[in-house]
Amino acid sequence: MKTFPRCTFVAQPLQSHVSYTVLNGKLVPWDGPTIPVYSPSMVESSDGPQRTCLGSIPRMDSIASMKALDAAEQAFDNGLGAWPSASMASRVESVEAFIKAMLLVREDVVNLLMWEIGKVRPDAEKEFDRTVDYLRDTIQSVKAMEREAIHFREEGGILAQVRRVPLGVALIMGPYNYPLNETFTTLFPALLMGNTVVFKPAKYGVLLITPLLEAFANCFPPGVVNIIFGRGREMVSKIMETGRIHTMAFIGTHKGASDLKRLHPHPHRLRAVLGLDAKNPGVVMDDADLNLSVSQALAGSLSFNGQRCTALKILWVQKGIHDAFVAKLAEGIEGLAWGLPWEASTKITALPEDGKTAYLDGLVQDALAKGARIANPSGGVFDETFYAPTLLTGVTSEMRIYHEEQFGPVVPIVAFEDIQEPIQYGVESPYGQQVSLFTKNPHSLGRLVDVFVQQVGRVNINAQCQRGPDTFPFNGRKDSAEGTLSVYDALRAFSIRSLVSFASNGDQKGLVSEVLSHRSSQFLSTDFYL
Ligand code: G3H
Repeated sequence: MKTFPRCTFVAQPLQSHVSYTVLNGKLVPWDGPTIPVYSPSMVESSDGPQRTCLGSIPRMDSIASMKALDAAEQAFDNGLGAWPSASMASRVESVEAFIKAMLLVREDVVNLLMWEIGKVRPDAEKEFDRTVDYLRDTIQSVKAMEREAIHFREEGGILAQVRRVPLGVALIMGPYNYPLNETFTTLFPALLMGNTVVFKPAKYGVLLITPLLEAFANCFPPGVVNIIFGRGREMVSKIMETGRIHTMAFIGTHKGASDLKRLHPHPHRLRAVLGLDAKNPGVVMDDADLNLSVSQALAGSLSFNGQRCTALKILWVQKGIHDAFVAKLAEGIEGLAWGLPWEASTKITALPEDGKTAYLDGLVQDALAKGARIANPSGGVFDETFYAPTLLTGVTSEMRIYHEEQFGPVVPIVAFEDIQEPIQYGVESPYGQQVSLFTKNPHSLGRLVDVFVQQVGRVNINAQCQRGPDTFPFNGRKDSAEGTLSVYDALRAFSIRSLVSFASNGDQKGLVSEVLSHRSSQFLSTDFYL
């Protein structure tokens, strides 16, 4: 019999009260109301299991967020501020200084990832290291972009120089499941392209920004990075209503994204970079490799308790392989150790979202009432913040779990006979992020690939869904995303091409040559950045 994980010590060393924020290049004290931050991991106490309080964050209001917007707008200064007009070399220098500061606090951030969102140590370390790699790769990519931009193009008697320029003030909001990685993979491309930023850390996984606040204040000129802490709606609505936000990076629900976009008085002036809901299906054909498909389905649906936007959230399994697949997957699920994030063998941990276990139980009870079955012995139980990984078979379209994105450790299986059934599911789904196809048959695989590339952003062959490698485009169709991210694409998402053109005759060429030789323009320039 498995037991619910309990911690026997409190996170005293982590007590982290954020009493200041970053505004206009300074650490500004906050003495207003605060919001406590609790760990999802339950700690034993004389009053029974408790969620330990890890610290608190400022509960800033719309007045504070307007100040952040004012500072960012002033620093941008219509693209003529110190940051947008700085050379790429000096922007890169700032980001390199930040990376250096970031590496010094790796262990603090990893610890907070474990305590705040329950991410197991290897995954927390991977999130940190992957983020640093991403920033370094972005620097290489931006240098390549700069080298390209020094060239003049001639077409039909017109010469032109084309460069990417920033869009303005970017509002950056991250998700709780990758509070460092998914936030920084939009924040830093936005900064490197010369935008100034209002940054709202994720709802959970917010304290882990604390060890970096000083670096944010010190590495960038005043007003370039302004941080707002608190409840999203209370702070962000007001600044969206001003129409002074030019780009918005948001990772969350499509409903949340639409509500925010709707607040902007000129939606056509707002560029949105959105990572939204997903319900990625895994389709397992009769001829699939059983061991491979089970191991990929296990990792795909239950890494970080299924709290990945790319997680496999519904498995379609053909009837010939169904029973063997279910038995093996149930065995795999039973083998996953429940525990605390810092324990070496732990795979399944407590969930940070308020009310999450009750929500998951609601999904499971609904499915059971409509004829589904729990296929693993320890499935279907929960306690406080912990929900046991649960394999549900006999799932049908009548059940909520068939439609809703569970974002947790419940794995629904739909048995099918005719491949048209999962195809229809993919076509009718409001989501379109990724799919995993498991088969050894090249003919059916080829056909399925052609069907699914029209529905989703990525088709994975005999492998789980995932975002990486980060140089690959990461996007989605329908309600799953807007825009494309990758090391290369993110730089484009936060900038726009502008060009300067002139007739390719002697007079104009002479004039522009003078501009170049006197270095009188930042834009019209052939300075080479090595
Ligand atoms: O939550 C969405 C993440 O971008 C997924 O990334 O596939 O590397 O876990 P991942």
